[in-house]
Amino acid sequence: MSSEEYVPGGLEIEEAKLIARLIEDAGADCIHCSQGVFATGHIIIPPAPVPVGGFVHHAAELKMVVDIPVIAVGRINDPMLAENILASGSADLCTMGRASLADPEMLEKARRGDFASILHCIGC
Ligand SMILES: Cc1cc2nc3c(=O)[nH]c(=O)nc-3n(C[C@H](O)[C@H](O)[C@H](O)COP(=O)(O)O)c2cc1C
Repeated sequence: MSSEEYVPGGLEIEEAKLIARLIEDAGADCIHCSQGVFATGHIIIPPAPVPVGGFVHHAAELKMVVDIPVIAVGRINDPMLAENILASGSADLCTMGRASLADPEMLEKARRGDFASILHCIGC
């Protein structure tokens, strides 16, 4: 997703890092690294053309400046993808929103190794 698709003059990552430090100092337990506003609904709820895990780099950037857990979100639609994100150190936790709606049994299937039967969120 290119920066042109965000609101011109809107919040950028460097300012978000400052805010992240402030809310950590204020006592936040964690940061859920969502993005977008009403003017950019397609970024809040990213559609299929957005690559899976396409916003993880935002979480990674915030994670560099705070000590509290940072949660990645957006098109994380597969348990192995989530595992890889955690293993890479880009985030401490992953949100799997629509993925959990597409297949509420996803995590249980992953726990028993039945990856083939997972119904993946297609981002619609
Ligand atoms: C039906 C629906 C309602 C949502 N409502 C909100 C909301 O009120 N505020 C918000 O910040 N994000 C909202 N989101 C965005 C989700 O928190 C999440 O960031 C987004 O769905 C991307 O994650 P996913 O690909 O795992 O679903 C909503 C998403 C969906 C699908």
